[in-house]
Amino acid sequence: MLASVIFLIDLRLPLDYNVGVAYIVVILLGLGVDSLRYPVVAAGASTILVLADTAARGATPPPPSAFINQPLVVLLFWLSAALMVRLKRIEAHSASQVTRLEELRHALDEAAIVATTDVRGRITEVNEKFCRISKFSREELIGQDHRLINSGLHPKPFMKELWQTIGRGQIWHGEIRNKAKDGSLYWVDTTIVPFLDTKGHPYQYIAIRSDITERKAGEERLRNQEALARVGQLAAMVAHEVKNPLAGIKAALQILMGRRPAGDPDAAVMHEIIERADALNDLISDLLQFSKPKPPQMRLLDLRSVLSEAQALLRRDPIGAGVDCTVEGAPLAIQADQGMLRAAFSNLFINAAQAMGGHGTLQVQIHPDAGRARVTVADTGPGIPTEIRDRIFEPFFTTKSRGGGLGLAIAKRSVELHGGTLTVACPPEGGTVASIDLPTQPGPME
Ligand SMILES: Nc1ncnc2c1ncn2[C@@H]1O[C@H](COP(=O)(O)OP(=O)(O)OP(=O)(O)O)[C@@H](O)[C@H]1O
Ligand SMILES: [Mg+2]
Repeated sequence: MLASVIFLIDLRLPLDYNVGVAYIVVILLGLGVDSLRYPVVAAGASTILVLADTAARGATPPPPSAFINQPLVVLLFWLSAALMVRLKRIEAHSASQVTRLEELRHALDEAAIVATTDVRGRITEVNEKFCRISKFSREELIGQDHRLINSGLHPKPFMKELWQTIGRGQIWHGEIRNKAKDGSLYWVDTTIVPFLDTKGHPYQYIAIRSDITERKAGEERLRNQEALARVGQLAAMVAHEVKNPLAGIKAALQILMGRRPAGDPDAAVMHEIIERADALNDLISDLLQFSKPKPPQMRLLDLRSVLSEAQALLRRDPIGAGVDCTVEGAPLAIQADQGMLRAAFSNLFINAAQAMGGHGTLQVQIHPDAGRARVTVADTGPGIPTEIRDRIFEPFFTTKSRGGGLGLAIAKRSVELHGGTLTVACPPEGGTVASIDLPTQPGPME
């Protein structure tokens, strides 16, 4: 249509006026057309129309300028067409590259936990998997740095080495433990790739991670089992070699103490020796129980009574005498090994009393819930430092000068033998809360 208008105008004006140049507009209209052939067809048609215009004038001898202008105009048509074809090819290529990149990104998002940060470590982008594992929303994460999910496990030099590596433009690879919004911990295998500018300086980092929490838990279980096997050998030897002589020493000391006159200053020293011998005996019993656990002797019991027995044990212990311990909750029937469960609760109560330095409040509550019961043991102590929280169940892990580090490991295993779980948490308002979840028996307990 536009080409015909140009043709008519061109026909009416003398050949000196190069209206034919306007055909370029017709060729350029191809910018809005997808077809690669359009510019070529338009250039061809324009060439024919320009030649037709010259031919239509027939008799009129063309002015000399027409011999230069006409070929120039035609040359312009074909140059424009060639440029358009090239442009369209580049456009098609970039579109396919963008599609490819989007496909790659989709694949990456499906396979990994991805985040990008600026050079200062502030999060600029996160994918769905990142939000899911960290339990933070995208809005909560963007603009923050990774300290938001720092679990406090890795020492400063570790983080410094990470930042120095990526700051130099090198790739960092390692395993990091992070903390989700709800306080749960997760491990990620992490690769951080710096994006470099033309001068080789990083301008952003992309962190690609995969969840290895399960593997880490498996490794820990294995470590504990290995420790257990070592303890087994040791315990058998210790029990044999130490337990009996220890009982002999204690008995002899008790006889000697009985012979001392009242008010003898040595009696206090002897008393201290007996206490130490008792502690050593407890540790050996713990070792034996831990290394060769007896299968639980299950019978129908009242959970509340077991807790009251543990409470009585605490009151009899010097560290527990000054603790204000209350047990709340109705009687509840469970299938359990009385001695084993009592010892597990007693361990938790003693831990709490020790953490509170013998003074404070210990609140024990039973919460029945559809075939199960949750017992919470809440103290008003200082809580557990974040950096050791994931180690407290490790056999032999202790922060106490006279601790064996087996209390929680044994308690956890005893509870698990009853089909339950034992977790320890430190609420923001302070103190420590141990939660024991156990299956219960239907029906009321008299
Ligand atoms: N209620 C609590 N408050 C603060 N820290 C605690 C509490 N319970 C346990 N811990 C920490 O966990 C560590 C491990 O406890 P665990 O009972 O296994 O061993 P222990 O008490 O040190 O020794 P053991 O029980 O064998 O005498 C303790 O050393 C302590 O640091
Ligand atoms: Mg303990």
